[in-house]
Amino acid sequence: MNTPRTQKLLTLWKWSAIILTILVVAVVFFKQEKPTAKKQKPMIIKDKKEPIPQQVAAPSLDPATLMTPEALVKAGEELIFTSDGRTMNSMGRFPVGKGQCAFCHLFADEQKLARCPDLRNVEKRAQERINDPRYAEFSARYAKVPEPSSQLKPQATTGGEYLIESLYCPSCYIVEGYEKEGSGEHPESQMPFVSEMPMMLNDYEIVATVAYLQAMDTPGDYSKVTAKADWERYFNKKLELGENKRPVALPKENLTKTALLEDSPEVMIEKMGCFVCHKIPTVPIATTGLIGPELTMKNKAIQRINSPEYLKAVEMNRARAVTPKEYILESILDPAAFVVPGYGDGDGMPTDYGMKFTVGALNKLANFLLELDENAGKEESVSGPKKPSSASKRD
Ligand code: HEC
Ligand code: HEC
Repeated sequence: MNTPRTQKLLTLWKWSAIILTILVVAVVFFKQEKPTAKKQKPMIIKDKKEPIPQQVAAPSLDPATLMTPEALVKAGEELIFTSDGRTMNSMGRFPVGKGQCAFCHLFADEQKLARCPDLRNVEKRAQERINDPRYAEFSARYAKVPEPSSQLKPQATTGGEYLIESLYCPSCYIVEGYEKEGSGEHPESQMPFVSEMPMMLNDYEIVATVAYLQAMDTPGDYSKVTAKADWERYFNKKLELGENKRPVALPKENLTKTALLEDSPEVMIEKMGCFVCHKIPTVPIATTGLIGPELTMKNKAIQRINSPEYLKAVEMNRARAVTPKEYILESILDPAAFVVPGYGDGDGMPTDYGMKFTVGALNKLANFLLELDENAGKEESVSGPKKPSSASKRD
């Protein structure tokens, strides 16, 4: 009778097979898990601690290959538009690279911007600028004493030198209508110094952006790219690669960045680029923006919602804010709802902030702005009646 014996044997086999399988699975599992756990941990920490720019900045590069017209133009494109290059989104905006140029300047017909000079065909226009009688006026003005903030004198002899000069000394020639208001006899340019905070472009990077401007209107043709020679003639020295003062913009930096609740208001203001256009008291990075009003919203927000212009926008069903905080939120999320009098229509605030803030972050930033008045961050030492802030001149 083989049944009991074979059955016994079978169950024995069955159990040993099961136990064996469990063992094998366990061994395989442990073998796999240990190394991945080891690998992943340091990788995550590394990613957080060492931002990708270190790779970009790795200076094991041969200077000669980075100085060719093609290489300069490519570097310039990345500095202006991030490494995504010149790719416009559906809102008519370009990604904004380390140079921040695309926040202010017009580079393409379809781009929705008009507040700063148009840079289309600027290679050609630059040559006309130096023959413009206004250029001679600026030269005469600074013939003896150089322009104070840059210590340079208007002295461009070629279009390329003019472009170089525009970036190192914006006030050496100011495009008509772009003087800082109230800067009087020695007008100052509204254009920021791109070699300083927050852009911090070095000489090589400035030459690269100029190279891009020179090639922009004739894609693929590098014959007009003389930026390096222009720079060397203008400053009478050899161009060097220089050190990276600030890491190059990351791919899609400005498109994928999101303001998070754990970010401080200062971090959000930097991440979202508000500082490029707005002065914001107490925020170290935001001391130069001139495209939009100073964001001292403590009293201003109430004044705005009670202004006749705002009430008109409400009547037209465009604006809806009732409280000061709602006004700030509306300004950020729906800039077209109400345009501050004196500012152009639709050419200022980016329109996609709604997709770049978490709700908590936006709330936090609004509360922060709501606390700021004209005297925020200023020492009490200023005596006498407090003057209205110079940046809010247009309101
Ligand atoms: C915050 C806004 C802003 C940013 C950012 C900015 N510019 Fe400007 N730019 C201006 C304004 C305003 C003017 C006009 C005033 C002047 O002529 O100095 C100007 C003038 C210029 C001119 C002279 C144009 C002409 O028609 O003569 C050039 C060239 C230029 N910018 C290039 C750049 C480049 C390249 C960058 C990025 C590296 C840049 N700008 C970043 C606002 C800006
Ligand atoms: C490219 C330039 C630009 C950037 C970047 C920008 N703004 Fe503005 N902003 C403007 C201009 C121009 C105005 C005035 C026109 C208007 O009302 O839309 C304005 C208006 C405002 C107002 C209303 C101010 C008032 O006096 O009533 C607020 C609030 C504001 N911006 C907040 C922000 C915040 C916060 C950010 C960053 C998340 C930001 N802006 C980024 C250009 C800019």
